[in-house]
Amino acid sequence: MRREFTGKKAMGAIGGPVVFITGAFSDQIGIMTANMLAGVTFAPPQVCVSLSHHSHTRSLIEPSGEFAVNAISPEQMELAKLIGRTTGNRVDKFKQFNVETFEGRIVQCPLVKAAYTVLECKVIHSLDLGTHTLYVGEVVGYHEPVKGSPLYLYHGNYYTLGEQIGSYK
Ligand SMILES: Cc1cc2nc3c(=O)[nH]c(=O)nc-3n(C[C@H](O)[C@H](O)[C@H](O)COP(=O)(O)O)c2cc1C
Repeated sequence: MRREFTGKKAMGAIGGPVVFITGAFSDQIGIMTANMLAGVTFAPPQVCVSLSHHSHTRSLIEPSGEFAVNAISPEQMELAKLIGRTTGNRVDKFKQFNVETFEGRIVQCPLVKAAYTVLECKVIHSLDLGTHTLYVGEVVGYHEPVKGSPLYLYHGNYYTLGEQIGSYK
């Protein structure tokens, strides 16, 4: 279909949080930056994330059926850029970029110590989207957010959360 806009423009208009997705399988661990994700149900709590078929991290999540969503703070913006442009197919990004981790309560994936909040997830569904696979994960472990703001991406620019202007209820 011919479009008068790019996918980047359309996705950029939605925007959203920037996270590190981590995974582990056998003796390998992986970490990548991701922004194409969303919470999709409350009961059970489920999130989905779309991961490129080129991703090393995705190649670990596929056989293990587990991943962690590590939402990050504005302080990790430069790290997010580095981790998002280097592939674990060639280097150990945890060592290269000094990413400190801790063990999950339920999943085997490394969890990022400096994260704003962490969700431990078990893959419930996956859907091949051609270039990416969409993973729907049930949140089986939850680590409370630290104070401050999560890091957001909107139209290719990074932001902190602005002022609170209302409540859901
Ligand atoms: C801000 C930002 C958001 C990104 N979002 C995604 C995403 O949602 N899905 C994806 O597959 N790659 C995304 N990437 C690209 C991956 O992080 C990148 O391809 C990375 O090198 C993959 O690492 P790996 O091969 O070690 O898994 C994003 C990169 C950045 C900088």
